[in-house]
Parts: sequence; C-alpha cells; structure tokens
Amino acid sequence: MNPRCPKRRQLGLLTLSILLLVTLKYSYIRDTQVALEDLQIFRKHSINCSDIYELDPAEVGKSLVLRRQQTKEDEDETLTNLLSNCPSFIKSRSYHDVCASEEERDFPLAYSLVVHKSAWMVERLLRALYSPSNIYCIHYDQKSSPQFIAAMEGLARCFPNVFIASKRESVYYASISRLKADLNCLSDLLRSEVKWKYVINLCGQDFPLKSNRELLSELKKLNGTNMLETSRPSEQKKLRFTFHYELKDASFEYKKLPVKTEQQKSPPPHGIEVFIGNAYFVLSRDFVVHVDSSSVVRDFLAWSEDTYSPDEHFWATLVRLPGVPGEVPRSSPDITDLMSKTRLVKWHYLEERLYPPCTGQHVRSVCIFGAAELRWLLNYGHWFANKFDPKVDPITIQCLEEKLEEKRKSFQSSTACLDG
Ligand SMILES: *[C@@H]1O[C@H](CO)[C@@H](O)[C@H](O)[C@H]1NC(C)=O
Ligand SMILES: *[C@@H]1O[C@H](CO)[C@@H](O)[C@H](O)[C@H]1NC(C)=O
Repeated sequence: MNPRCPKRRQLGLLTLSILLLVTLKYSYIRDTQVALEDLQIFRKHSINCSDIYELDPAEVGKSLVLRRQQTKEDEDETLTNLLSNCPSFIKSRSYHDVCASEEERDFPLAYSLVVHKSAWMVERLLRALYSPSNIYCIHYDQKSSPQFIAAMEGLARCFPNVFIASKRESVYYASISRLKADLNCLSDLLRSEVKWKYVINLCGQDFPLKSNRELLSELKKLNGTNMLETSRPSEQKKLRFTFHYELKDASFEYKKLPVKTEQQKSPPPHGIEVFIGNAYFVLSRDFVVHVDSSSVVRDFLAWSEDTYSPDEHFWATLVRLPGVPGEVPRSSPDITDLMSKTRLVKWHYLEERLYPPCTGQHVRSVCIFGAAELRWLLNYGHWFANKFDPKVDPITIQCLEEKLEEKRKSFQSSTACLDG
C-alpha cells in the first residue's frame, strides 16, 4: 500500500472542508448583503439636504421628481428578519454609534409610543429619538397585524431600554382607548428602574425636530413644569363632553367611532373645570406620579369614558387642577398648540395666516409635510411635528434624519461619551 495515500486523503478532506467553509461563508455574506440592498431603508435618495434646507430651487425640484417615483414601503417582515440577529441589526442601523454623555445620563427621558402600523417608520422614529440613557415603551394596537406585532416584539428584544406595554388596547379613533394606551405605558414607565425626568408621547406619524441633547436643554428650562396645550373650550367643543357618546360601527376608514347621543351627561366630578388641548404631552415625573395615585384623577377618567376624544381634554384639564405638580392656574391664559412646543401641526385653514402653505399633501385638514418645509420645521422652535409619511414625501424624513444626525454627531464629538 502506498503510505502516502492516507495523507493525501486527509489533505483532500481538508481542502474540501475549507472549500465548503469558504463557500458557506460567502453565500452567507451574499445573502445578507442582498437582503440589505433590497431594502429601501438602506437606499438613500441622492439629494443634498443642505440645499433642500436652503430652499435651493433645483434641489427642491429634484425632490418633487423623486416624490413622484412612489417609493414602496419595506415590509414589516423584513424588519423582523433583521431583528432576529440583534448585533447585526444594531450595527446595520448604527445604533452602536449613539452614546450618552454625563448630562444625558443624569436626565433620562421616557417615551410612550402608541403605534399600529408601518414597522419601519416606528424603527426610524426610535432611531431618531434614541439614546441609551432613555427608556421607550411601545404600545401596539391589539388590532395590528401579526407581522407588525412581531417586528415590535423584535425591537423590544434587541434593546434593554425598549419594552412593550404590559397591557394593550384595541385603539379606536377619538375613543377612550387612545388615552388608555398612553396610560398603560405611563403606568409601566413609572415602575421601570430608569428614573426618568420627563415623559413624552408620540404616534407613528410624528418625528422629532430636536436632538436628544437639544431637547434636554429645553426641558431643563421648564424647571419641573409641564408642556402641553390647554385652552378654554368653544361651545362646539363643549358638546364633546356634555353629551353621552357611544362607540358604534363605522363603515369607512375607522372601524368604530364614538357617536353623539341625545343623553346629557352629568357635570364632571369634584367641580372640575374642563379645558381642551390635544393628545400630546410633555409631563414631569412628579405630575405623572400624582396622576397615577390621585382618586380625583381616577374619577375624572371614569367620567371621561363616554366622551368624544377624551385624550384631547384629559391632560389639558388635569394640568389645571389646583395643587398638581407644575399646575397651570385656571385663571392663566390659554396655552394654544402654537405656544405649546409639544407638536407642530399645520392646519389647512390656518395656512398663509399663521404659517407658510403645506408643500406635501393634506389629510383631514392636516398637512403631511413636504421637503420645502424642512427649514421651517427645524427653525420654528417646536420639539416634535406631525405628520410625516414617506409615501407622500420620502425626502422630508430623510433630510430630517440627516440634520438630526449631524447635530448629534457634533455634540458627541465635543463631549465625552460614557459608554463604549
Ligand atoms: C451640498 O451642497 C453644498 C453646496 O450647496 C456643498 O457645499 C456640499 O458639499 C454638498 N453636500 C454633499 C454631501 O454633496
Ligand atoms: C424653579 O422652580 C423652583 C421650585 O418650584 C422655584 O423656587 C424657582 O424659582 C424656579 N426657578 C425659575 C428660574 O423659575
């Protein structure tokens, strides 16, 4: 027998294994690369956001052309797939680049994200808000698709500071369920280990206009008070809580809607005077602790059950209750939505009177922002804005992301980072 034979066979086996490994490795890399390249999220539109910001006519024109190309939205499943490998997801979306300074560590923020669809848009929102020092509660709708829910669960699995609300509602437009979704998150957030200073609620079509650092410096100026709209209701708005409303099946867009009945409601408990605002808030921890434990608040919530859009009077009223932390006295003037910095919203009927016209598209009188509003959005002074939709204008969001990222990086390069 040839003594070299076994050796040759070994060599052959070794070569075969190496070949196999190399092939496996390359096919693996090729697979993941193909997956990422296939996703819109990793394919930036070629546009110069500084020129968009400066309202350069050629670049704005280019954005209008890109807008017409109808970007297709990435499927929720693709996010779930990426999230199945947390380290690679975190790297691919550059979360590992975000670090918290000492100032951010000392001033954690909490977020209540009430969302129901478009998983990638939720991810982009989270990415824009993200700081390892903050904590994020995601409330998804009980009616959401299994694909969307899987993606949200995936996000919660990949970040120690992101979690799903322990109790979830089926959310119906203008009903108490919208308010309860936030209350569920607030209750969980109060019990979290993170001792956040302020809590902010957002929905899937909101986007921040400030970096985390900028927001902190604004919130510190509040000196423990809250930021939200709170005005005296018009006679029209009063109907929303002087009559009993019933949740009824609706045949169009919303599956159910609260419908007015002829039955008059009793006045609010404890002589509470009702103020009106919107669903968005920036609340101090002390205020939320108070809301969580107050029997007056509990009674007011129960009384609000059968009103129209209780989220739009609940917070606005509570902040005016005598003795609450950060109280706005009842006698103080109205705080309108343009005075409160919580949310910049462009209403169709106020355009050109109060602000430049919408360059995107309207939906139920509200503007979905277009790229030519980037500068206005960033300079107005508000902290968040609504509404954004990549299907209406993908450039607005891309450029906002880019501007916020620029700000974050310039802060980050000027101060020490606490985590590696
Ligand atoms: C965008 O345009 C400005 C000039 O308007 C230029 O200074 C800048 O380098 C451009 N940015 C990129 C990324 O091309
Ligand atoms: C901040 O709040 C404290 C306590 O509520 C108060 O004593 C102080 O005057 C406030 N500071 C400013 C600058 O408003």
